[in-house]
Amino acid sequence: MAVVRFGVSLEKELLESLDKIINENQFSNRSQAIRFLIKSNIVKSKWESNSIVAGSITLVFQHHKSDLLQSITDIQHQYHEEILSSQHFHLDHDNCLEVIAVRGKAKRLNELADKLKGVKGINHGGITMSQSG
Ligand code: NI
Repeated sequence: MAVVRFGVSLEKELLESLDKIINENQFSNRSQAIRFLIKSNIVKSKWESNSIVAGSITLVFQHHKSDLLQSITDIQHQYHEEILSSQHFHLDHDNCLEVIAVRGKAKRLNELADKLKGVKGINHGGITMSQSG
């Protein structure tokens, strides 16, 4: 992809905010930070407009809670068209981590994440969305 250079005029305070973002995220320069912010904005608007996005759902739970595994399997089957893959990790004797890669309409992915997080016994859950291509 061709790279185009352009000048940006910013208020001093905004530039300081940009440099703070650079420090916090360890970006190597302002261009990288601006690129990141633009892309985040694009993903956010795709998410809000219910476009196709890709992402991952992360769940942490105790596997021996009754019916939990059956419930999360049932829910995943309802959304088989959105689920690309899932991986289960046994963290220790009691705790499991499940990472589910998803792609589909943002609203439907949120709905799936909410249903999974709502299962009794799930200790923590979250969704991260990114561009689908
Ligand atoms: Ni496990």
